[in-house]
Amino acid sequence: MRLPRFSLHPAISIVLLTLLAGCDDAPTPPTPTAITAMPSDASLARIYDSSCKLCHANPAAGAPLTGDTNAWAPRLAQGAETLLDHAINGYNGMPPMGLCMHCSEEQFLALIAFMSGQRFQ
Ligand code: HEC
Repeated sequence: MRLPRFSLHPAISIVLLTLLAGCDDAPTPPTPTAITAMPSDASLARIYDSSCKLCHANPAAGAPLTGDTNAWAPRLAQGAETLLDHAINGYNGMPPMGLCMHCSEEQFLALIAFMSGQRFQ
């Protein structure tokens, strides 16, 4: 039996993947950061793990991913006030309170800061 003649050399696959990743229309592949990142504060980490993370670490959800600074940049440009308002009242696919019904404004801001990598104070 002969080996298939048109299999891609691994190095070529990497080049193709890199080209794909550079294309604006290609969906952003999940970064390891988005999937494993956790707030260092334990109580915040619990909230994040049971709410925000379900969507903000899941590329299929259409939410700006945790640690994806490009995705967060235009959202941050709206200002902390608007982001907090959208987190509490909902915004398109973003459910009101991000499924954390007992979260305080302070916790929402801390979670947004964590996900976007931007400090508000
Ligand atoms: C059920 C899925 C889901 C959960 C859970 C969720 N989000 Fe979101 N979030 C989204 C989606 C989808 C968007 C993008 C909405 C859009 O831009 O159309 C979003 C967008 C946002 C935005 C940006 C809003 C803007 O104005 O651009 C903030 C801030 C945010 N989420 C905060 C949070 C926080 C904080 C939590 C956890 C307490 C959370 N989200 C939990 C799905 C979710």
